[in-house]
Amino acid sequence: MALLKVSFLQMSKRCLQQHGGVCWKLGSKLSVHTPPKMPPCDFTPERYESLPYNQILEIRKQNFSPQMSTYFQKPLLLHQGYMQWLFDYEGKRYLDLFSGIVTVSVGHCHPRVTTAAQNQFGRLWHTSPVFLHPAIHEYAEKLTALLPEPLKVVYFTNSGSEANDLAMMMARSHSQNVDIISFRGAYHGASPSTLGLTSVGAFKPRTTTGSNCQTTMCPDVFRGPWGGSQCRDSLVQTIRKCSCAPGCCEANSQYIEQFKNTLHTVVAKEIAGFFAEPIQGVNGVVQYPKGFLKEAFQLVRERGGVCIADEVQTGFGRLGTHFWGFQSHGVLPDIVTMAKGIANGFPMSAVVTTPEIAKSLTKSMNFFNTFSGNPIAGVIASAVLDAIKEDGLQENSQETGSYLLLKLAKLQNEFEIIGDVRGKGLMIGVEMVQDQESRQPLPLKEMNLIHEECKDMGLLLGRGGLFSQTFRIAPPMCITKEEADFAVEVFHSVLRRHMEKRAKEKF
Ligand SMILES: Cc1ncc(COP(=O)(O)O)c(C=O)c1O
Repeated sequence: MALLKVSFLQMSKRCLQQHGGVCWKLGSKLSVHTPPKMPPCDFTPERYESLPYNQILEIRKQNFSPQMSTYFQKPLLLHQGYMQWLFDYEGKRYLDLFSGIVTVSVGHCHPRVTTAAQNQFGRLWHTSPVFLHPAIHEYAEKLTALLPEPLKVVYFTNSGSEANDLAMMMARSHSQNVDIISFRGAYHGASPSTLGLTSVGAFKPRTTTGSNCQTTMCPDVFRGPWGGSQCRDSLVQTIRKCSCAPGCCEANSQYIEQFKNTLHTVVAKEIAGFFAEPIQGVNGVVQYPKGFLKEAFQLVRERGGVCIADEVQTGFGRLGTHFWGFQSHGVLPDIVTMAKGIANGFPMSAVVTTPEIAKSLTKSMNFFNTFSGNPIAGVIASAVLDAIKEDGLQENSQETGSYLLLKLAKLQNEFEIIGDVRGKGLMIGVEMVQDQESRQPLPLKEMNLIHEECKDMGLLLGRGGLFSQTFRIAPPMCITKEEADFAVEVFHSVLRRHMEKRAKEKF
């Protein structure tokens, strides 16, 4: 793969010279486009009989906060979903490659999960944690069985932000220290406390939040100052070159030095903890060098801190090789937070920790939350775990995800504006650039055009990265290879058309 890319870079330079700065394919001609054929789906949506489109837009304008933005110039009004498919109000079908922001883990309205929810809806909705109910107990046992010792005590919460809030409390109660470190570019939530951990400018408020939270350099091997051709745990490596001997990673050593520098300069001698997503989601599926988290965890523990894995996007088999993202780094966190895919879109989240840390929290506070252990959430989350196992979804993430990743990586040889293709399983990022040599982010106008055209051809992609320059792919884990082929054909077709426009209009 690395060799392929080196020779491509040389060839693409020649191509750039020949085509006046615009290259999409060596020897390609302007083409007549035939839209890719969407794979079949044996589900027919109901007729849409709710509010008219324009009325919804008007309500949005009058009654929603102006900062609640939507994707696309003409926002998509969705009506129904079935597994990996979504249907809009006019009955048009879309292949969903973003799962409502990495949330619909097993498929929209998965029949087994829907039936479990419907049965429970007719029986009992809510109890509160002051009573016992079997659903959440059964679920607690099933969930913790999937985590290694000593991660056996679970707390139920309602969102990823709330789970991370609680994890911050745990880290501070247990360590008796206050400083918490997270990566720049990380997204850990939007509550007043977690906004201290979140390090994406667009989400930072003009008011004080999350005191005693410090950020450190994100070891981003594509966009950061260091990176090479074998740093990350992915089937596809960056286009950057390096001369590291096998088993060595210069980029990793440099980023670890930065981490040490953070420990020396911006936090107290003893710290409360360190939060990390195993792969950054909102920042555009950013992967760290192999071995980085292992060394960082050790440094944190030497300072009295605990290590928190935010598995809100990476958990529940999405990465394919492992059920949890931290396992792919060979580390054992002290606290694991989870949300989104845990209940396939039903609002629920959880924090799992050790009995020792749970004891420290109990000494420090009386944790209470009305909906914690809600019977509906318990039943749904339990059915989600069954579906992951029975439908072989972790295995499918591995197989279909790798297939899709490699097919997307091939497009990089054709399109100069694909800077990086990365990820694991069904968590994939395609970072778009002005050209592969500069690695400058593709301007927003071009990103938006490509994004919208994919949607018009029936393909829904997500966006991420500080400049919104990365397409994010995290479909329901039931997607098939045939559908992955369709996704690649659409992306290919849209990029070809885009490069032709680029040649004419000089964006
Ligand atoms: C990694 C990560 N952690 C935490 C959160 C916060 O979750 P929620 O939006 O449910 O509060 C998100 C949301 O995108 C996330 O991606």
